[in-house]
Amino acid sequence: MTVRWDLRLFEEAASTQDILKDLARTGVPQGTAVQALSQTAGRGRHGREWEPGAGNLYLSVLLRPACALQDIGQLGLVAGVAIGQALAPFLENPSLLRLKWPNDVFLSGKKCAGILIETDTIPSGDFAWAVVGMGVNILEAPAGLSSRATGIAAHAKKNIPAPGRDEVREAILKELGDVFTLWQDSGFEPIRRAWLALAHPPGTPMSVKVGAMIHEGLFQDVDETGGLRLREQDGTLRTITGGEVFVQTDGGTG
Ligand code: BTN
Repeated sequence: MTVRWDLRLFEEAASTQDILKDLARTGVPQGTAVQALSQTAGRGRHGREWEPGAGNLYLSVLLRPACALQDIGQLGLVAGVAIGQALAPFLENPSLLRLKWPNDVFLSGKKCAGILIETDTIPSGDFAWAVVGMGVNILEAPAGLSSRATGIAAHAKKNIPAPGRDEVREAILKELGDVFTLWQDSGFEPIRRAWLALAHPPGTPMSVKVGAMIHEGLFQDVDETGGLRLREQDGTLRTITGGEVFVQTDGGTG
């Protein structure tokens, strides 16, 4: 059974993540979702600000995955697949979509969506909840980021008016419910395959920043746990479980 979504819509919020995390602590069920039409203090990964742009989608959803602590990173790939699959039908040329490990969605070499996952655990070490935050540039790339970010409207088959945000949100929630359920019922392998189908092709040059270290190599794939595999110049296959990826052909990480 897919996830039953219960959407709460706000005109403006500091961050949809914070609203939903507060709700999660009160015990609201899986499927609770918070959307804001604008955010004043949106945040991204690596402590970055997630800049506002008019008409864009700011959405956080509450999930309670049954998975081991070390596998929670797979949820980012689940969300990436869901967003990629949801956006594809809106696009003139869906083959320009690329998932970048672990949590980014690129369109024509520029970032169009990012995913932030925040979790809470209970003393047994199990997950109490995971809040999956999704920022999707629909009408525009945030001001000042146009060299690195893009909005899907610029690549869409048809005009996406501001209320079109709702259409995109519904498509994402539908896909996320289905892909999350597939992961919970059938494990990571079908997600891994779907993610690789939307990823940069094997052999794409990448560098990965892990703490103060930079690893360079050619993208190989993701392994059965969701780790990134990079073929280094000396032929070594390095598996990376956390870090920030830079793809030379892309405009940046956004
Ligand atoms: C990233 O790429 O760094 C992740 C960006 C996540 C942004 C979204 S917008 C909705 C939700 N609320 C936030 O404050 N952040 C996430």
